[in-house]
Amino acid sequence: MTTTDLESSTEAITAFLVPRDPRLTFGLLNPLTRPRPLPRPFDAKSTFYLFWARNALYHGIQILGLAAGDNVLVPAFHCASLVEPFIQRGVSVRFYRIDRGGNPDLADIRAKIDGRTRAVLAIHYFGFAGPVRDLRDLCTHHALFLIEDCAHVLTGRGEGGVLGEFGDISVFSWRKLLPIYDGGQLVVNNSALRPVLTLDQPSVLFRLRVWKNVVDRLIEDAPGGGLHRLSGLARWLSGAARRLFTRRGRPAAALAISNYGLHFDPSSVNVPMSGPSFRMVRTVDVDAVITLRREHFRTLLAGVAEIPDVMPLHRELPEGTCPWIFPFVARGRSAFHLRLRARGIPATTWGDVIHEDLAVDEFPEAKFLYESLIFLPVHQSLTAAELQTMIRILREEMRATS
Ligand SMILES: Cc1ncc(COP(=O)(O)O)c(C=O)c1O
Repeated sequence: MTTTDLESSTEAITAFLVPRDPRLTFGLLNPLTRPRPLPRPFDAKSTFYLFWARNALYHGIQILGLAAGDNVLVPAFHCASLVEPFIQRGVSVRFYRIDRGGNPDLADIRAKIDGRTRAVLAIHYFGFAGPVRDLRDLCTHHALFLIEDCAHVLTGRGEGGVLGEFGDISVFSWRKLLPIYDGGQLVVNNSALRPVLTLDQPSVLFRLRVWKNVVDRLIEDAPGGGLHRLSGLARWLSGAARRLFTRRGRPAAALAISNYGLHFDPSSVNVPMSGPSFRMVRTVDVDAVITLRREHFRTLLAGVAEIPDVMPLHRELPEGTCPWIFPFVARGRSAFHLRLRARGIPATTWGDVIHEDLAVDEFPEAKFLYESLIFLPVHQSLTAAELQTMIRILREEMRATS
């Protein structure tokens, strides 16, 4: 069974012992919560709130003036959803080498620059700062744009600066770190760029989809009891609405927004961040989220220290880092995440997110990462008991496969 099979199976997701994503609660939607000032780099810059980070990239590409015939250098270790916006704009993608530690190979980037190269995209994998200062210098030296992909970053510091302020443009994906279905952001740092972006007014149907997702999630994330009894009613209402729209010749899937899909949906590119997501972004206590994620990361780090053959990608948590997940390699095991999932641990990999244009055999280190790097959640809703459950089951499964 592949990760995608598992992800598309609701049974598999709801059967987890440990929640894969942060929980949505009524408290987080409280309309009386006052908006907070947004941290850097979101505060004083030219910025746009979009539905997905991939859509932010799509618009960023145009703002940078990249066009058909140009090429961009993109890491060989990536999520396909960030590659597609370039293809959609007719920009060729050339892949550069990433080592087993997730570090970009600057020599390979230099070697791949040609007369049509206009930009380099760099990813701060899993919330940890990459060598973005060197990449900035490289881009400035070669008169290229730097696209800083902060999709795994809530906010963070590193390399002596604020992540998201190094690139000519940067993109964020709030939805990966908060309990929301949508939420991407584009930050334009280069003051020579003149960003103009006209977004659509979301339709009534679209707003309905968004609110349906919010209600579904509230029910799903409720700790049991009352709200679960509502889920039958919600399912019935959702089915009735789907039948209604189908009868009117609209697609049957109109009321579903997948949180895990990789595809690029041209019909959503001009859709702004939804109302509930925008509110959450403005009201969430970012510092509290960072503190919890850091604590959970450290707990896992300490917990796996005694387990032979468990090798964390990062053995330290630098100041200013807000981790998205806990990446590690289970040495000598293959498809080990499936064993964890079978035991109720929402372990994931990037095995199924490779863009079809990547000749992965030409990048053995990236191939290794796709095949071997396993992610455990460290999100803000985890309890101490859930963290210990993950560590215990990891230990047991490592022992069982030694
Ligand atoms: C590094 C990176 N950039 C961009 C994206 C796209 O983010 P979104 O799903 O919000 O479009 C992803 C998605 O996983 C990603 O991992």
